[in-house]
Amino acid sequence: MNEEQRLASQQITAPKKEEKDYSQYFEKVFTAPSLKDAKKRGKEDIKYHKDFTIDEAFLNMGVGRKFYIRTYGCQMNEHDTEVMAGIFMALGYEATSAIEEADVVLLNTCAIRENAENKVFGELGFLLKYKRKNPDMLIGVCGCMSQEEAVVNKILKQYQHVDMVFGTHNIHRLPNILKDAYLSKEMVVEVWSKEGDVIESLPKKRLGSIKAWVNIMYGCDKFCTYCIVPYTRGKERSRRPEEIIQEVRELAAQGYKEIMLLGQNVNAYGKDFDDLEYRLGDLMDELRTIDIPRIRFTTSHPRDFDDHLIEVLAKGGNLVEHIHLPVQSGSNDILKIMARKYTREHFLTLVDKIKAAMPNVTLTTDIIVGYPNETEEQFEETLDLYRQVGFDMAFTYIYSPREGTPAAKMVDNVSDEEKKNRLHRLNEVVAEFSGAALKKLEGQVVEVLVEGSSKRRDDVLAGYTRSNRLVNFETDVAPEELVGKLVNVRIVEAKTHSLLGEFVNVVN
Ligand code: SAH
Ligand code: SF4
Ligand code: F3S
Repeated sequence: MNEEQRLASQQITAPKKEEKDYSQYFEKVFTAPSLKDAKKRGKEDIKYHKDFTIDEAFLNMGVGRKFYIRTYGCQMNEHDTEVMAGIFMALGYEATSAIEEADVVLLNTCAIRENAENKVFGELGFLLKYKRKNPDMLIGVCGCMSQEEAVVNKILKQYQHVDMVFGTHNIHRLPNILKDAYLSKEMVVEVWSKEGDVIESLPKKRLGSIKAWVNIMYGCDKFCTYCIVPYTRGKERSRRPEEIIQEVRELAAQGYKEIMLLGQNVNAYGKDFDDLEYRLGDLMDELRTIDIPRIRFTTSHPRDFDDHLIEVLAKGGNLVEHIHLPVQSGSNDILKIMARKYTREHFLTLVDKIKAAMPNVTLTTDIIVGYPNETEEQFEETLDLYRQVGFDMAFTYIYSPREGTPAAKMVDNVSDEEKKNRLHRLNEVVAEFSGAALKKLEGQVVEVLVEGSSKRRDDVLAGYTRSNRLVNFETDVAPEELVGKLVNVRIVEAKTHSLLGEFVNVVN
């Protein structure tokens, strides 16, 4: 958006004058996002806030009120939802799973591909019905889409029933934003495009009691040319090791069985410490000693995956033998224009090293097909690399242009039909390899962390293996005795996306 448009949109949404009681908390209700500002990576130090508290004036804001949050996108977003739920509850709100009962509805959005955004706009249209029935309902949009000016402009123009829009750097400001939204007749927009801080001690309402997410770092500085994340999540910044270790210890003490460490590019962990030489391998080596059965992490970037990390992961124990290692393409030319900063050869050497150190490793990946001007030969190099590595599973996507990224400006001579065709061909190879990997497990006994009973049958329980494969198994043991436990299961049949087995015993 140019300056003129920005001013125009600011005029449309000029804040209504605040009311007396809360005036000191009533701040500017219009701070629009700017992808251009979000792109900046300055020398400014990352501010580390350890002292999050909720102002007393807000504490009873939610008494007698209910909130509902719908989450889109990645696990980082899911975890942000847990933080927002924690804040809501600290304010006295109660959670509800029925939108029609909610006093506040939040859509925590994802901007990674166009179809992710379309879903949110569809849902926003749908919410109008609820707003008409209950005009006091507050509707909010947060998450990655709110960091994009085009999205915020569209909401301002076409979705006037939205009461608040706030960004990924503004989550800790939820109490203030809610208060502003209650008092203002205008849409409250508070989206900071800053590089980012680290805020500790935010409350969390975890959704599960068996598996927990733990952020180890925020943001991304990789700027792959197709990707919106560095703009929506700010610069790479790591949490201090002692904070992470403490959180994992507490979760272990609370009875959690599995930790998923989160970051957009966890292999850059620690790069931003200027007083400490400490990387992901060091962190994993310390976490390894905590008494919790499983620790995993996502997402790995092939470029920063160092030998020390491989060495530590090979020690096994609670560090599971599953690595999600997005390759995106098997063509050096495409990798180059994607700015992935590694070559096919580098990737293959890394895979060889990992496999040599961890012979039982399960490798999964992400692939984008139909990058602007991708040729048939370049696509075939991706198929070839897939076969060479023999990934166990992959998330595959058709390239989706994201406004503000360099790739969105490229001319593209690949037709939609050809892109769909390539995706289909790739998915056939993915299915072939994942089918074979599952088939290999038939007859074997695997360790399963039991999460619950199957939706249809009480005597069928479900859980995941160390390599994150879904296992359904029959048992006579009552579900309450097994849920949350590690059990051995003999695999009797490989299905397309899961395994079917029979209960053997509980792991001691
Ligand atoms: N930080 C992770 C990826 C996060 S996004 C990493 O670098 O591995 C998850 C996946 O979405 C990416 O791995 C990529 O395959 C896909 N993706 C990202 N931007 C995309 C776009 N513009 N179009 C299609 N797929 C995209
Ligand atoms: Fe996006 Fe690349 Fe960063 Fe992953 S590493 S979040 S694909 S820019
Ligand atoms: Fe989507 Fe943002 Fe995650 S764009 S994938 S929710 S970091």
